[in-house]
Amino acid sequence: MSETSVLCDIGFVGAGVMGKNLILNLADHGYRVAAFDLDHKKLEAVIAQDKAERGDKPARVICCSSYTELLSRLSSPHLVIVSVPAGKPVDDVCLKLIDAGIQADDIIVDTGNSLWTDTVRREKHYEGKFIFFSTAVSGGEVGARFGPSLMPSGDPYAWTRIEPIWRAIAAKVDPATGRPLERHEPGNPVIEGEPCATYIGPGGSGHYVKMVHNGIEYADMQLICEVYQVMRDALGMSAQQVSDVFKEWNQGILNSYLMEISAEVLATKDSETGLPLVDVILDKAGQKGTGLWTAVSSLELGCPAPTISEAVFARSMSTLKDQRVLASTLLSGPVREHCTNQTSEQMIKQLHDALYCAKICVYAQGFDLMKTAAAEHGWQLNFAEIAKIWRAGCIIRAVFLQSITEAYERNDDLQNLLLDPFFSKQISVNQMNWRRAVAEAAMTGIPVSALSSALSYYDSYRTAVLPANLLQGQRDYFGAHTFERTDKAKGKTFHVDWSHNDRPMQKIK
Ligand code: 6PG
Repeated sequence: MSETSVLCDIGFVGAGVMGKNLILNLADHGYRVAAFDLDHKKLEAVIAQDKAERGDKPARVICCSSYTELLSRLSSPHLVIVSVPAGKPVDDVCLKLIDAGIQADDIIVDTGNSLWTDTVRREKHYEGKFIFFSTAVSGGEVGARFGPSLMPSGDPYAWTRIEPIWRAIAAKVDPATGRPLERHEPGNPVIEGEPCATYIGPGGSGHYVKMVHNGIEYADMQLICEVYQVMRDALGMSAQQVSDVFKEWNQGILNSYLMEISAEVLATKDSETGLPLVDVILDKAGQKGTGLWTAVSSLELGCPAPTISEAVFARSMSTLKDQRVLASTLLSGPVREHCTNQTSEQMIKQLHDALYCAKICVYAQGFDLMKTAAAEHGWQLNFAEIAKIWRAGCIIRAVFLQSITEAYERNDDLQNLLLDPFFSKQISVNQMNWRRAVAEAAMTGIPVSALSSALSYYDSYRTAVLPANLLQGQRDYFGAHTFERTDKAKGKTFHVDWSHNDRPMQKIK
């Protein structure tokens, strides 16, 4: 049979960084892929890499020059995976595939960082034209190439078709230890292990879960950055010294991909100046929006995720570079050298414990948000499974995810991760150092908005009586917004005429 007459298993649209690596990963696992991209050069790069890796073996990727050709190269019903930027490009591809003759029982899988509500809309909008399925992908380019974490959701029939493919290409976890298995290199035997791919639920839920993953990612990154800043500005440590501490921490409970790469970033030298590269990188952070979406969702649902929001604000604050430079010459802070009587070793230990406790709170916020969204949208999310598929492949992968898996296996209806006996003990044991680290940073004038917001979250959550009684009084005073009483049945509301509070209280309902 000639090369061109063999039908492919999968059509793939989009050969950018993620697309190219997903295509090659699919090819590694024996799938024949027909690929299309508007930019032909990107396709040529995929073919060249496939050839370089396979040598004389037959190519497993073919490039197509149009959507029509792409569909003609696929076995029926067609399965087309799309990896294009979130937003309009996803709909553009769907419309082009409709024009090219995609059928009602064909499946299109969106793997971009789409807004989850767009996924819900698309599933309905394209009903009858094709089956719109989504799979959120985490792991960056290396993850896509050698094993990402995959969060699929949507039509259950489509899932039966896609499941074996996703399980094959996903990152794998050693079931005995819960640790990531070595990545699969081309040519090596395929690795057995628990795949980081599980069906999340109805359309949109997978992208919601990925959005929260990214919110946690933002907060986790910000926490690490704050610890770095305290080490740099309060302890006067060099980038290399901070890197050494992070490397050591990465051997223990703080082991995570983000800790590992932070150590590597800090140890890298600039080839032009010979300085630590991090010292010549401008302190203005970018963002593509997924952290913001998480923060907005938490506000809309009334589910507190302050450390995630703080991480988004910290990026916004970083962009005010010119104002900050000016303000640094005008606004005073404490005189740093007079602030601390701690040794560097003590402060480093405090920062370690602070990072660990704050990280627990960030995950508590993220999982609470998913739980609240699930209740709101009628999704049956399995939190132990979600924690499991984050143990490898994704950006927030960490040894700690195994403990979260176990917490939800102990109690799948856990109200908040902080209430799990393992995590409550961890915070109870480590909290004093967390408090000292935050206090020390405040006394030294170093901003630690994520570390301290996590601490406030913890303290608020464990406080039986918050000052919202006064707040309700204020609201009723100026707006007759009513309040409930501690000594009357729940749900009964009251109003006082505050200027004549000797008058009887009015019961509203
Ligand atoms: C992942 C990452 C990925 C991407 C982020 C970066 O899980 O693989 O989260 O999705 O790197 O979207 O987002 P920012 O540019 O907003 O930091």
